[in-house]
Amino acid sequence: MKKILMLAIASVFLSLSILSFNLESRTTPTMNIVSDKVYDIILDTDFSMPPQDDALATIVALNSPKINVLGITTVAGNNSLEQATVDVLRFLEIVKREDVPVFVGSNMPLVHEVSDFAKSTWGKWWSDDPPTMPIGGFPKKKPEKQSAVDFMVNTVINRPQEITIVAIGPLTNVAKAIRQHPNFAKSVKEIIVMGGAIATLPDGAGNATPNAEFNFWVDPEAARVVLRSGIPVTLSPLNVSRKTKGSETWYEKVVSVDTPVTSLLKQTMGPEFEKDPEFIDLMYDQVAIISLIYPDLVKTVDLYVDVDINHGINYGTSVGWDKVWPGAEGAKKIKVQYDLDWENFIKLFIKEVSRPHITKND
Ligand code: BDR
Ligand code: CA
Repeated sequence: MKKILMLAIASVFLSLSILSFNLESRTTPTMNIVSDKVYDIILDTDFSMPPQDDALATIVALNSPKINVLGITTVAGNNSLEQATVDVLRFLEIVKREDVPVFVGSNMPLVHEVSDFAKSTWGKWWSDDPPTMPIGGFPKKKPEKQSAVDFMVNTVINRPQEITIVAIGPLTNVAKAIRQHPNFAKSVKEIIVMGGAIATLPDGAGNATPNAEFNFWVDPEAARVVLRSGIPVTLSPLNVSRKTKGSETWYEKVVSVDTPVTSLLKQTMGPEFEKDPEFIDLMYDQVAIISLIYPDLVKTVDLYVDVDINHGINYGTSVGWDKVWPGAEGAKKIKVQYDLDWENFIKLFIKEVSRPHITKND
């Protein structure tokens, strides 16, 4: 009898682990957080000032000796394209990194059209208002003449398997680059994408609609093109963002080091924590960039992920499973982040943000 009971318990445990896609066995086995690689990246961003997650991810990329930012490409998302471009140019002046070239990207998603809902929710990707003045005035630094898509294509095609794309906004530019050159997708070394929310994993609700995450919802067709392209993708979805806990305690540690970015941050985040000391600031784009240089901080699972492009209630929703299902036949297996080591993450984030700003050409 005792034996039967033990067998029954064992089989329940077995089926539970199969149901959860065997998450643990597919995760990174060690927590060795040191990687000596230097990544040549293109940072594709829907940048916004005052500094939010895109800006914090950008400063990590600029500061880290493990990252060489070849160029920043802008895209409409949090803001209009023009605003994102003006804001990132000004940001580079503030942090004295005018050496980094900025390329202007897409001002509209591939298909998604503005609606009353889009106007009433977060994000001004649809706006054609002239840009407002960023902190300290309009930038003197100008964007490059080459378009973002041409820059992506030329850089990647000239250096196959050497360039990593870090995409922290809607994927419009990357999708256009894939469509522009037949060898682009197979020449990209890797792409880290902040986007999506996977309902089959914990914390998988959307933030733009009940099931869709903002970056994917702004340009669902582009997200689908990128995920189906065959580029090795690491997805940093809302599931992993929701494991971050940007509390006042951690905020105080970030701003205790005086840099141009932390002083901007004091002006934006300070009042939030004064209003509500319990406020938790989730980190999105920061996870994507930190996980590039410290991959062992995050746990990943390999899943087929596809994006709903039907213009119904789930437009822009990402769906992930451990096998292909009807309608998702073109989906590719990608790495999906679903958990992170918060204590070490925030320590390393603070370290990267606080590094002295140096011009890498010096
Ligand atoms: C994503 O949407 C944007 O608002 C953030 O910058 C981040 O890239 C989170 O859903
Ligand atoms: Ca972003």
